[in-house]
Amino acid sequence: MSKFKINRFWSVVATILVIYGIVKWIIPAVSRNITSLPFPLTVPGTLVFIYMTLTCVALFALVTFSDEFLEEFWGPIRKMLRGEYTKAFRLVVLVVVPLIVGWQIYDITVPKVQLPSSLRIQHPSSNFPKKFEAIKNPFNEPSKERVAAFIEQVKEDEIKFIPQVQKDIDTWKEEADPDHTLQFLPGEPVKKLLAELKAEKITEATAKQALHQIDLFEGRALYAMNCRPCHGDSVAGDGPMADGFKLRPINFTDNGTIETIVEGYTFWRVMNGGPGLPTEATPWDSAMPEWKKNLTDEERWKIILAEYDLAEKTPRIPESE
Ligand code: HEC
Repeated sequence: MSKFKINRFWSVVATILVIYGIVKWIIPAVSRNITSLPFPLTVPGTLVFIYMTLTCVALFALVTFSDEFLEEFWGPIRKMLRGEYTKAFRLVVLVVVPLIVGWQIYDITVPKVQLPSSLRIQHPSSNFPKKFEAIKNPFNEPSKERVAAFIEQVKEDEIKFIPQVQKDIDTWKEEADPDHTLQFLPGEPVKKLLAELKAEKITEATAKQALHQIDLFEGRALYAMNCRPCHGDSVAGDGPMADGFKLRPINFTDNGTIETIVEGYTFWRVMNGGPGLPTEATPWDSAMPEWKKNLTDEERWKIILAEYDLAEKTPRIPESE
């Protein structure tokens, strides 16, 4: 036998300490290096428990492999109990070990007063540009000129829709052969407008309401094409793709989401998505896409109009200067 052989008891103790050290400190340090995140990714407590249990099971199998191994393992413990390392040492061990164990259990069970841990911030503002604070959704309150132009389009039956829905409307028109294109949109405001058109006395108020109905229709269509997979038909964050994300798509019907922010903030969030979020919004990266790459300002505002409407929420009003 080699002269430097460590006693089996001490190699068991050393193995447990080394494995605990790896799980507790080395893995988080390495993860930080790999991900280059500003914080280490710690191994969850339950996983530490599983690793340590497996280590103990393996060591138990090793120690009980033969009587000889077992004898060697018990050697130092027996020697200590017999007082062969001096009686004072035995006394220290017999007092200190129960004290440490007792203290640990006390520490686990005693109720604690703690500062709340820093949770993810859903509405970070550190990089939110001030100029977005007060902007309003232009489709909420259509301008007089837009309404006037719309009335002309209604009279001529030449209404321009967004290209994403135009094709479907054209197909419908070929099949249904209606008197007026707007008949494809059932609903009070449009009905009223068509009645006024027939009577040749279109009012601005009715035209405005009908225009709002069309904007909502287009917004909903764009929502269904772009946002529904994650945020869901019911806008409750339960689309078919939603379960795939650790950080779930937002439920817009929940109080405390889009209701608590100003429209300009919603616009900025939809524009820049997950990549536009500052570090307070970590851990867990947001899967929300950067919509400025795929949708125009107009399309994004229409979606936001529909989003609030579907969720039956109103945005927070910006504070006046
Ligand atoms: C790939 C899935 C996905 C798609 C598609 C998606 N989102 Fe999201 N969205 C998320 C996730 C995940 C969050 C939550 C994390 C966060 O706040 O960024 C989120 C958050 C949001 C928020 C923040 C709400 C709040 O209160 O902070 C808004 C607004 C939003 N989405 C709007 C939209 C709109 C509008 C569309 C379509 C143009 C869309 N999303 C499409 C995944 C998605």
